[in-house]
Amino acid sequence: MTNAHNRVAVLHGVNFDILDRRDPEVYGGLSLRDLETKIERWGGEQGLKTIFFQTNSEGEFVEYLHRLPELADSAIVNAGAWSHYSRAIADALDVAALPAVEVHLSDVESREDWRKLSVFDGLVLAKICGKGPDGYREALELLAGKLGTNAG
Ligand code: DQA
Repeated sequence: MTNAHNRVAVLHGVNFDILDRRDPEVYGGLSLRDLETKIERWGGEQGLKTIFFQTNSEGEFVEYLHRLPELADSAIVNAGAWSHYSRAIADALDVAALPAVEVHLSDVESREDWRKLSVFDGLVLAKICGKGPDGYREALELLAGKLGTNAG
């Protein structure tokens, strides 16, 4: 299916390049590449074209958000620990002004208190957490509904 407004940028922040080295009890043990492969497949099923970005540099993350409106029609953001304190990233997402969903693999609501705060509050369509990779599928479904790529 071709659709001019079907691009979803999937942004991963700090420490996602080593996802397969992080606690498997919390993060499932899969690699970022495996996660992105799943997301790409699920996106395709929803008529979405996924593009991927990951960095450990907060400045690079902000700069990617600056370019986001040229690159994509919507976004899925898992900024890792930055989600809990980077007002700079939140401001940049606000400026990008695209429909966005925040995803966390783990259930940030039931972990340490500092993980409960999200700088994306009020900027995203939804915050999905604690569902592992399936959270991304849910986010893609939400965005497909918003962009109208899953109709018919
Ligand atoms: C995370 C949750 C964050 O609290 C943590 O800092 C991460 C991963 C998640 O996907 O569960 O790096 O965003």
